Amino acid sequence: MSETIIRKMQMDEPDERRVLDLTSQGLIGRPVTRPDGPAKVAGTASYAGEILPEGTAFGVLVRATIAKGKVASLDEASATAMPGVLGVFTGERFLRNPAQGGADAAPVQGASEVAYFGQPIGLVVGETYEDARHAAYTMGVTYEPADDASVDLDTAKSERPDAKQLDQGDLDAAMAGAAHGVDVTYTTTPDSSAPMEPHASVASWDEEGVLTLRGSYQMLRHNRIELADALGIETEKVRILAPFVGGGFGSKLGIAPEAVAASIAAKALKRPVVVAMTRQHVFEGTIRRSETSQRMRLCTDADGRLTGFGHDSKVSNLPGESFSEPLAMTTHFLYRGENRRIGHEIRRVNRTCAGSVRAPGEAPGMLATECAMDELAEVCGLDPIELRKRNIPDQQPENGTPYGTRLLAECLEEGAHRFGWADRKAPGERREGEWLIGMGVASAARTNMTAPASARVTLRADGTALVETDMTDIGTGTYAILTQIAGEMLGLPADRVEVTLGDTDFPPGSGSGGSWGASSTGAAVMLACEAVREQVCLRMGVEPSALTMRDGEAMAGNTRRTLEEVVGDEPVAATGDFEPGSTTEQRVMASYGAHFAEVAVNQTTGEVRVRRMLGVFSAGRILNERTARSQCIGGMIWGIGEALTEDLVHDPRDGHVVNRDLAEYHVPVNLDAPPIEIAFLEELEDWGSPIQSKGIGELGICGSGAAIGNAIYNACGVRIRDFPATPDKVLAGIISEEEAGRLSSGQEK
Ligand code: MOS
Repeated sequence: MSETIIRKMQMDEPDERRVLDLTSQGLIGRPVTRPDGPAKVAGTASYAGEILPEGTAFGVLVRATIAKGKVASLDEASATAMPGVLGVFTGERFLRNPAQGGADAAPVQGASEVAYFGQPIGLVVGETYEDARHAAYTMGVTYEPADDASVDLDTAKSERPDAKQLDQGDLDAAMAGAAHGVDVTYTTTPDSSAPMEPHASVASWDEEGVLTLRGSYQMLRHNRIELADALGIETEKVRILAPFVGGGFGSKLGIAPEAVAASIAAKALKRPVVVAMTRQHVFEGTIRRSETSQRMRLCTDADGRLTGFGHDSKVSNLPGESFSEPLAMTTHFLYRGENRRIGHEIRRVNRTCAGSVRAPGEAPGMLATECAMDELAEVCGLDPIELRKRNIPDQQPENGTPYGTRLLAECLEEGAHRFGWADRKAPGERREGEWLIGMGVASAARTNMTAPASARVTLRADGTALVETDMTDIGTGTYAILTQIAGEMLGLPADRVEVTLGDTDFPPGSGSGGSWGASSTGAAVMLACEAVREQVCLRMGVEPSALTMRDGEAMAGNTRRTLEEVVGDEPVAATGDFEPGSTTEQRVMASYGAHFAEVAVNQTTGEVRVRRMLGVFSAGRILNERTARSQCIGGMIWGIGEALTEDLVHDPRDGHVVNRDLAEYHVPVNLDAPPIEIAFLEELEDWGSPIQSKGIGELGICGSGAAIGNAIYNACGVRIRDFPATPDKVLAGIISEEEAGRLSSGQEK
């Protein structure tokens, strides 16, 4: 093979070439099915805990049963003496709380210090899983509990990081002098990411001291560094494999305790070790979303134009954690208002690590802002869509930066038309027996991010292409879209492109997080293919501008060759390197949309049923209509959970997670999810990525819960400010509405 060519692009200016519009295979945007689909359906896709090398031993984590303190003793001797037990591992290198992902996210270590109930403090390894589990669950542990454990948010230590505060103009004066205003506080519960595949790692070391870890992770380029850091070895000595990941939603962004524990044990025992978390471990020992309390102060002039926007929030985190839920992400740019205040307070609590969960910031943040906007529309006497449209800013209201593509108004209008918004009635006016029916709307917005990404593309002798990167597919459709991009660029049908992911021996992709995967790693694949195309031109002796590649042939002028002929016995390989650049400062970039929900509220029981939902989105170029739609539906169903059922309950005595399984932690199931319609508006964003796409994976959850909350109000006149809207809260509201004479009792009709 000839030397690999490297094609770099740093996004310091918009790429207006629109390369994907100049090619002719016709794969982009099409609802191409997932190449990985058959393997997943047939059960042959290999998830982390499923491939066990010969001689693998089984590890089970020992977890703390106090909220804070020191481990005084572990009865390792008795555990080791139990049948089948091979070893007990404890020590400073265990992860105290999971890393958060990202280059600067060093894991927090030290098993002897307990920071929350359920924290891993040791590992028991046995010949069988049952041997290890029995010893781990019966091992004697004594503690020196700290007397200042803090599991109560009201009394916990508070911090206000400067970087997350803003005070512009005079919000108090604006509120006092405004024609209309609302001052309301919303609360949301802690949530679990609850991926289908529990975290699992299989570690094995070779004679040269190289660790291979088969794990379930989202961002291998960072996970490799984190794991090497936790073990105190060089990054080059770690290889991570994660070809299939059964969902992550943020909980697999950073290295988790089971990977470190498996690696330590495998090294000491000189044999492979698997550590698979149980469902309970995932709930207690990985990452949760913080609960929030958000005071919203919004005020307008007589025409409903915002003059002030205040968003003061409280979240919780473990002591010392650097991440905290960035609730005001969209508040900075979504609506106008010259007087602005953003407050951010962190309560330090000894509870499971709070980290990134799908759309960190926007998901709970927009639940509050978009419900508050609905309240504001009512006091202004405006339709909630009209209020939003009047308040779309001309430029970023805090620093004047121009916007990138933004079809927010268009999404709201298109959605109103499709959903039949004009038929919406006043609260309490639409009834079917004891069910009250209502409609709600909310904006969707998610900051568009990109990340450094590399990928290698090889055109092979048989006229097929191979794409290699350590990028992951966490259920998002990465295999499909990278197949499409390479096929499109090289003129190959999808079945002549092979995409291999999830191996740190390959060039580092962006990883899957922050909805940046498609735009970043997709860009790297596009760049690599551009370089391959140039090599094809050189070999054919034609100008790049004259080249057409389609159905396995390269054509230019009167020359036409099959790719097998072009390649001969010398494959063409190139690596694409994509880097975000200064365009992220030159434009405010986000994906947008509009959520619509229709709910039925039972007047007797307070039960809420979502009847139908619609999401209209604009997210730059839609690479694959099927996988994009699927991402949006998934996100919107998260909104149902956020609005109606999900609540990770912590015991007020010791902070332990009470509902630590999928029976008691209520994610929406099929019967909770109504028909969901998705529509995309056409848009190309040149400032974010050379493939003109924007993030979509997290967009669906941003605002969908608020549309449901607003629909509940429209159905029965009950404003839920304390999510989730469980039947007890809704019913209490209905009873007060009835007593105040604002809602007629269903029986009279
Ligand atoms: Mo996401 S919460 O960045 O996986």
